[in-house]
Amino acid sequence: MAGRFIVLEGGEGAGKSTQARLLADWLAARGVASLATREPGGAPGAERIRALLLDPAAPLTPLAQTLLHVAARVEHVAETIHPALEAGIWVVCDRFMDSTRVYQGVAQGVDAGAIEALAAIVGMQPDLTIVLDVPVSVSRERSAARGRAADRYEAMDDAAHARIREGFLARAAAHPACYAVVDASPDVDAVFAALCAVVANRLG
Ligand SMILES: Nc1ncnc2c1ncn2[C@@H]1O[C@H](COP(=O)(O)OP(=O)(O)OP(=O)(O)O)[C@@H](O)[C@H]1O
Ligand SMILES: [Mg+2]
Repeated sequence: MAGRFIVLEGGEGAGKSTQARLLADWLAARGVASLATREPGGAPGAERIRALLLDPAAPLTPLAQTLLHVAARVEHVAETIHPALEAGIWVVCDRFMDSTRVYQGVAQGVDAGAIEALAAIVGMQPDLTIVLDVPVSVSRERSAARGRAADRYEAMDDAAHARIREGFLARAAAHPACYAVVDASPDVDAVFAALCAVVANRLG
């Protein structure tokens, strides 16, 4: 692939969306064609699936959530990510397969083998995954500051969010060559500086 695929992962309110936009702009300012996108969503059909996935009024078992996230992801890869990478565009993606591994697998108990089989079907591997790490208390404050109703995942309890945090850190620790962890507790500019340093180091 001509482009690079960078994924930002982390819990609720860690700053993924904020940093994904900043990073895509930073790349563009350096002459690297770039695209910021998000999951679930990032393509018209996938955004429709997102609305269902985030709606806390629609009961969905963890397995049903897993399959819907993967359905949205397959659409996102086919319609947005793969064409961009082929065209030489660097893709900065707010969440990807690790969010399914962690939210549905680690936090909600979906079988890890089933999730890996689905990951193989999705087939697309990030060149670099950056975990934006914050304590659950910070994550809660930032989500609350937005002042809108909690979505399905924001509504999970603190114990689940603590498992999610540990799940991302464990992924990064298990695959250090293609992960970096950035402390996302400082202000936006400080986190962004750390993120840019990681990207410059790892991807040139
Ligand atoms: N480093 C930071 N310090 C303080 N506030 C921040 C920081 N980064 C982001 N915020 C604010 O916290 C809120 C959540 O940020 P953002 O939407 O980027 O997080 P997110 O990881 O995408 O969250 P979600 O998982 O809910 O989509 C926003 O109001 C944003 O302005
Ligand atoms: Mg976001």
